[in-house]
Amino acid sequence: MLLKVSCKLNNFLSIKHGIKKYYSVLASVLEKPELGENVEIKGWVKSLRVQKELVFADVSDGSCAQKLQVTIPKHLKTNDLTYGSAVNITGKLARSPRGQIELLAENVKIYGKCVVLDGYPFNPRTSHPPEYLRRYLHLRSRTNYISAMLRIRHSVTQLIHKYFSSKNYINIHTPIITSNDCEGAGENFKVLPDNEETVKSMMQQGLNSETVYFGSKAFLTVSGQLHLEAVCRGMGNVYTFGPTFRAENSKSRLHLSEFYMLEGELAFCETLEHLQNTIEDFLKFILTEIRNSNEKDLNLIDKNNTTPTWLNKQFITLNYDEAKNILDKKGMNTAEVGINKEQELALVDYCNGVPVFIVRWPKSLKSFYMKESQNDPEKVDALDLLAPITGEIVGGSLREDNYEKLKLKLPSESLNWYLELRKFGNIPTGGFGLGLERLLQVICAIPNIKDTLPFPRWPHNCSM
Ligand code: 4AD
Ligand code: MG
Repeated sequence: MLLKVSCKLNNFLSIKHGIKKYYSVLASVLEKPELGENVEIKGWVKSLRVQKELVFADVSDGSCAQKLQVTIPKHLKTNDLTYGSAVNITGKLARSPRGQIELLAENVKIYGKCVVLDGYPFNPRTSHPPEYLRRYLHLRSRTNYISAMLRIRHSVTQLIHKYFSSKNYINIHTPIITSNDCEGAGENFKVLPDNEETVKSMMQQGLNSETVYFGSKAFLTVSGQLHLEAVCRGMGNVYTFGPTFRAENSKSRLHLSEFYMLEGELAFCETLEHLQNTIEDFLKFILTEIRNSNEKDLNLIDKNNTTPTWLNKQFITLNYDEAKNILDKKGMNTAEVGINKEQELALVDYCNGVPVFIVRWPKSLKSFYMKESQNDPEKVDALDLLAPITGEIVGGSLREDNYEKLKLKLPSESLNWYLELRKFGNIPTGGFGLGLERLLQVICAIPNIKDTLPFPRWPHNCSM
């Protein structure tokens, strides 16, 4: 009886304190190589060189930028051991004559064959152009370019949480389905039940097929800002980071229908400078950290990728009117209101590639929630941050905190709750939104946004 109890206890302890190791992930093998140790690795063959006695295979498993060279005695090489095949290899770690860590294979098992002639679209030691890879979304994570990109994306995601946690911001999960259109730009996707039976059974007086499920129209979120503002007025500094959807009719190299947005809402934020300093500090943190943590990945994407020269410089600030004057002097057509993409990039160029905040915009160009500028009722305290490659990378503003002024601009009664935030214990706040994919374009110097996420969506494209 006593024995049984102690056995149970042992089982419990072993589950709680030690997870059985099933194999070694390359990132850990290469981080601390234990020479002479037996290891078992699993991954994909990225290249193969067959010599007289030996076969050399480069194996990668996605966990890091490096591949592990595996030396395989000829007798272990079967016909199925080819470029692209999935393998399980056991052996001992050693240092090669050239000083690299290698695995001396003792056993090779093939999980999945890969016959290139059957239509596998990639070739060994070839860097295929990104447009070509985009035709194979389901397979492209096997390439250096995309796997490096996805590891950098992973690291940036971790760093976002690290940065804001270290500054005592609270991460809020704002809803994906929402009844408001934050930006008012008419870019919402509707959310409706796709089931006639459900619609029929829920139909009541006064509700139509668009409102029947939630009792009001519902959309996929274009921004979590309004919800964030609500929580900010109860909890101080907050941020949200999640999927965002925009039905923009643009197939440009900078637009997606679904992207990830980081949004921060700063409590007690009374000046644009406060907001600008936060954005600048955050971006410099990310750029610095990612160059340390993912240097090899950055090199896989672009051998010539170097630290941006702006990292040690202060970002520049221009008023909207100043920016328009500069564009005018450059001979660009400024009769049109706003600043178009070409002009955004011209402004970054004017600032020698240093990111530039364009601040204090005409009220008519910006959303209802932005705070009227103190000395100019035609302007709002809004900012756009322009960066090389993308132009606009961040949009933000101080929020209108005057109840009466906000009431006049409120686009719909359904936002009365938002107005009411200004009624009880209101505080000044400001916030910003940053597109993760555009940030990745800037970090990795990637021209097309469709190469910064695994499965991009844009007009006429929702494959997979
Ligand atoms: O400038 P936007 O529209 O700002 C907002 O949504 C505010 N509510 C944010 C806030 O103050 N909390 O969008 C913010 C950023 C843009 O600067 C851009 O980086 C990115 O989101 N973005 C897109 N990225 C990819 N595809 C699209 N269609 C994008 N639209 C905006
Ligand atoms: Mg914007």
